[in-house]
Amino acid sequence: MGCTRYGLETLQVQLYMVEEVTDPEDDLTSFKLKPQTERKLIFIRKMMEAVNTIVAAKFPDNPRHYVDMFSGVGKYVTERGSCCLGSPLIALNIRKKFTHFHFVEEKKKYFEVLERRVGQIVERKNIPRANVKLLYGDANRLVEEVLNGIKNYDPCFVFLDPFGLEMKNPKLPLGVSSD
Ligand SMILES: C[S@@+](CC[C@H](N)C(=O)[O-])C[C@H]1O[C@@H](n2cnc3c(N)ncnc32)[C@H](O)[C@@H]1O
Repeated sequence: MGCTRYGLETLQVQLYMVEEVTDPEDDLTSFKLKPQTERKLIFIRKMMEAVNTIVAAKFPDNPRHYVDMFSGVGKYVTERGSCCLGSPLIALNIRKKFTHFHFVEEKKKYFEVLERRVGQIVERKNIPRANVKLLYGDANRLVEEVLNGIKNYDPCFVFLDPFGLEMKNPKLPLGVSSD
């Protein structure tokens, strides 16, 4: 049968593949947008807005944390060359906002690009710099540090979006999207 060509191994390789492109807006590295990624980004934006609206109404005085353990570079470029935001920049841009942000990325090149893009938005939107933490390294190792920065019972939205099966830490059994 034709579909047996796409066995687990092929799928695994596809999951790990990412095409890097130069972003026409800022000349930095972005990821090429795949159709399933576009759906993910629409979904995650809706989730972030819904969660923030509900949580802000219920706990108006609490901080609202956003944690992205596999942040990437913050942007995507479509087949036609237009740009769209990745999960960390969506979190910084949505209308009803989080108050605190924690971004983890383990690839140096991606981390540096993310740092620049986050820095620009933070400045443009007057987001307090102290409320935005960028952590370079393995999510599995840094999870303790991230969680230590969040007080018990403060609302927290955690997004885990590895390429494949990079997540090993059993302390993070939360919603996972594999790109
Ligand atoms: C699918 S991309 C994330 C895309 C991002 N969530 C978005 O929507 O814009 C996965 C990212 O996780 C990073 N990554 C892979 N293993 C990691 C690890 N163990 N710790 C932290 N980041 C990791 C990769 O370098 C890549 O940038």
